[in-house]
Amino acid sequence: MKKGKILSGMRPTGRLHIGHLSVLENWIKLQDEYSCFFFSADWHALTTSFDDTGDIKKNALEMVADWLAVGLDPEKSVIFNQSDVKEHAELHLLFSMITPLAWLERVPSFKDQIQQFKEQGKDILMYGFLGYPLLQAADVLIYRADAVPVGEDQLPHLELTREVARRFNSMYSRVFPEPKALLAKVSSFPGTDNRKMSKSYSNDIGIFLEADELKEKVNSMITDPARIRKTDPGDPEICCVYKFHKLYSPNESESIAEECRKGQIGCVACKKIVFTNMDNSLAEFREKRRQIIARPNYIQEVLADGALKARKEAADTMSIVREAMKI
Ligand code: TRP
Ligand code: SF4
Repeated sequence: MKKGKILSGMRPTGRLHIGHLSVLENWIKLQDEYSCFFFSADWHALTTSFDDTGDIKKNALEMVADWLAVGLDPEKSVIFNQSDVKEHAELHLLFSMITPLAWLERVPSFKDQIQQFKEQGKDILMYGFLGYPLLQAADVLIYRADAVPVGEDQLPHLELTREVARRFNSMYSRVFPEPKALLAKVSSFPGTDNRKMSKSYSNDIGIFLEADELKEKVNSMITDPARIRKTDPGDPEICCVYKFHKLYSPNESESIAEECRKGQIGCVACKKIVFTNMDNSLAEFREKRRQIIARPNYIQEVLADGALKARKEAADTMSIVREAMKI
């Protein structure tokens, strides 16, 4: 017996990196406990890429291949493209009639992102961008989801989703549950330069890098800058390599930290160990991805099948919504 319904999604912005793994591992675990819907938010990608749409389809296929390679299972979960389920758009439009403008303007990412893009010389203040969190509310509520696994940065969006559900329910009739957040731990995994891992900083480590590419990434990691000679005592706590040891060398990390502090291990040797452990751990995903993309049209079939299932659920909700609104 499943505990309830879950929905989550990602914008198809490119290949996934290790920073995404904790979110995905959370999704994978939830597959057995909940009835799960996972989607590629291609309409959401348009809010910032409306002038450069050429890669969206390709990115979505790549991202879904990545999902399957790390363990999302189309036998257990419904996996689909947002734009294949038009009901998301219809519900978004109906919600737009009852959502005060001020609710959207006060979502923190609204002003932040406008500013961020302005600095790059791009104006993203379009009608659709303002509506981003409302489209997200429609994504969740169209499946009457009970919970949404998200990172902390998405909490204000989920709060808006709950407010919209409440407003609809009190204005018309009780159609929607108020979905809870299921927070994934560790959302700020460090990149090779110790800042938050992000493609926009070029400090990301792809999950599916070949061994030699991975080695290069590990070698580029920033270590304790005070260490010049191998015998200089180091501070593992400020070293990016050590953070990866904690995750990928759980049995050795204590002794490595000790040797680092005493100046008994050099950074080159230390990186070699972490590389070997990361490589061993990621090899499985790499191999699985190879098998997945070797099957012609497999991803397309998964998405078509997912869209069919998602559409059925979404259509059910829409008939209840139209009846509640008497349209
Ligand atoms: N805004 C999310 C992100 O940037 C993507 C997203 C769109 C989403 N709709 C959603 C996530 C619904 C969870 C539920 O990652
Ligand atoms: Fe970092 Fe390892 Fe060098 Fe210590 S020995 S500074 S943990 S790379």
